[in-house]
Amino acid sequence: MTLFRNARIWTPVDRGRGTPTAGPGQGELARWEPGAMACMAGRISAVGHERDVVAGLSGRKVESEIDCQGRCCVPGFVDPHTHMCFCHGREKEFSARLSGADYLEILKAGGGILASVQEVRSTPEEELYRLTLERALSALRHGTTTLEMKSGYGLAVEPELKQLRVIGRIARDTPLRVVPTFLGAHAVPPEFSGRTDQYVDCLISEMIPAVSRAGQARFCDVFCEEGVFSVPQSRRILEAAAAAGMGLKLHADELSGTGGAELAASLHAVSADHLLAASDSGLRALASAGVVGVLLPAAAYSMRKQYAPARKMVSMNVPVAMATDCNPGSSFTESVPFIFGLAVLQMGLTVAEALTACTLNAACAVGMGREVGSLSAGKRADFLLLEGETPAILAFHAGVSPVAQVYVEGRLAWSRDAVKEQQ
Ligand code: NIG
Ligand code: FE
Repeated sequence: MTLFRNARIWTPVDRGRGTPTAGPGQGELARWEPGAMACMAGRISAVGHERDVVAGLSGRKVESEIDCQGRCCVPGFVDPHTHMCFCHGREKEFSARLSGADYLEILKAGGGILASVQEVRSTPEEELYRLTLERALSALRHGTTTLEMKSGYGLAVEPELKQLRVIGRIARDTPLRVVPTFLGAHAVPPEFSGRTDQYVDCLISEMIPAVSRAGQARFCDVFCEEGVFSVPQSRRILEAAAAAGMGLKLHADELSGTGGAELAASLHAVSADHLLAASDSGLRALASAGVVGVLLPAAAYSMRKQYAPARKMVSMNVPVAMATDCNPGSSFTESVPFIFGLAVLQMGLTVAEALTACTLNAACAVGMGREVGSLSAGKRADFLLLEGETPAILAFHAGVSPVAQVYVEGRLAWSRDAVKEQQ
């Protein structure tokens, strides 16, 4: 047993055993100062006020005791929406967008996502692994302990499987818990240009069965957007994926309100993501189906769009999560602290709501709510020690990461102090 003591512990309370919190519940945290946590075999065996945790040990042997020096302790971040498996950021495209070029127009002209597809297709697996690994470790240093990663830059059986194999290796080779998602419906590849329905047929008859046989993806996602995949096309793809045993996620109502939120709710997807242009009836449908709304403020930031209506969603009882959307085009960041700052200072969430959005609700958005996302007895001991006294430091200390130490299953996975000692 390891005992972590002298911490300022802040955590969402998981009342529903792995279900997300919504409405006023999203802003409720438990807080213990000084707090302590006892961990055994990678799981939390007790957490609470230090004197209660110590009293509850009742003679059990403490092998090591760690003084957290009064640092703020929060659950490890769960980043429930990333496209981190790519080669390089599209910097020239970013500059073109700064000069007024439009994201979807660039895609239509064969750039954007399709430029990244070309690069991923022609890059050897080993090199793609190396580049993705670097980014995943950067996420870990910024406090992410559970990470969803999508394919979607292959858009044909072989390169999609190559991406999913790389994602599987990241899961094996790093302390990160990685949730793999198949996003073959990210764009229409050049071979099918102008023949979207035929590509949808190919996804259903070839690609989903191949991915399912390989057993490499836990979820299937679709970029449901005007000019990409329509609501009926997205429904066909997701129904086939569900029949093949995958959970469902959806890029919904990002650039235009097409009814994506309604579709996600009717299919009982685990999450509907983006939602900048979701209708009120779509948001109501998400709330009553308990589908997590995953908001990606760094994409709105980088595309200079209005942020999604986070406050309205909380008031409508949609469980809100936040994610980086880390990708080479519309949102090039692996930093959850950056997202946290945008959530609080640009979208108007309280610090408590933002913490729930980056932990418990994010865990539920990848079907991991029973395992991670809060500091609760029985869950994995994934947590962070921050440089400050409260989680507000995540929004306050802007542009840098206040994450001092990252623990995964009770073991130190990264420490800023260790880096200091090496210097
Ligand atoms: O979530 N919207 C579609 N997909 C990504 C962008 C991917 C890219 O530009 O490479 C997103 O924003
Ligand atoms: Fe995305």
